[in-house]
Amino acid sequence: MDWLLALHLYALALGTGFSLANLLNLRLAGNETDDGRAALARLRQMLGRIGDGVVTLIWLTGLGLAARYIGAGGEGAAALPASFHAKMLFVLSLTLCHVGARRAAAQVMGKGRKELLPWVFRCTLGTHVSAVAAILLAVAAFG
Ligand code: HEM
Repeated sequence: MDWLLALHLYALALGTGFSLANLLNLRLAGNETDDGRAALARLRQMLGRIGDGVVTLIWLTGLGLAARYIGAGGEGAAALPASFHAKMLFVLSLTLCHVGARRAAAQVMGKGRKELLPWVFRCTLGTHVSAVAAILLAVAAFG
C-alpha cells in the first residue's frame, strides 16, 4: 500500500471538491437574502481556510512523491515526462488562484468590498479548472 500516494490523492480530491463547492455556493449566494448570503460566505470562508491546509498537503505529498523519481543525485529528474512538467504549471496556477480567491474574499468580508466578488468567483473557477487539468496531466504522466 502506497500511503503517500493515497494521501496525495485524498488531498487533491478535497481541493477539487472544495473549489467546486465554493463555485456552487457563489452561484446560490446571488439569489439569497442578506442573512442567507452571510451564512454562505461563512461556509466559503471555512472551506477556504481548510483549503489552505489542503493546498499545503498537496505540495508536501507531491514533492515527497517526486523526490522518489529525482533520487539523491537528481539523476531521475530528466526521466519525468513532459506531461509532469505541464502538470506542475497547473499546480502553480491552482496555488496562485487559491491565494487570489482567499485575498479577494478577505477584502469582501473584512472591508465590505462587494465589487471584488466577481474576482472571488474567477479565482475559484481558476482553482477548479487547474485542479482538473492537473489530474488529467498526472494520469497522462503516471497512469
Ligand atoms: C507540488 C505539486 C505536485 C507534485 C510534485 C506532484 C507529484 C506527483 C507524482 C510524482 C506522482 C506519481 C506518484 C507515483 O505513482 O509514483 C503524482 C501522482 C498524482 N498526482 Fe500529483 N503532484 C503534485 C500536485 C498534484 C495536484 C495539484 C493534482 C491534481 C489536482 C495532482 C494529481 C495527481 C494524480 C491524479 C496522481 C495519480 C496519477 C496516477 O497514478 O495515475 N497532483 N503526483
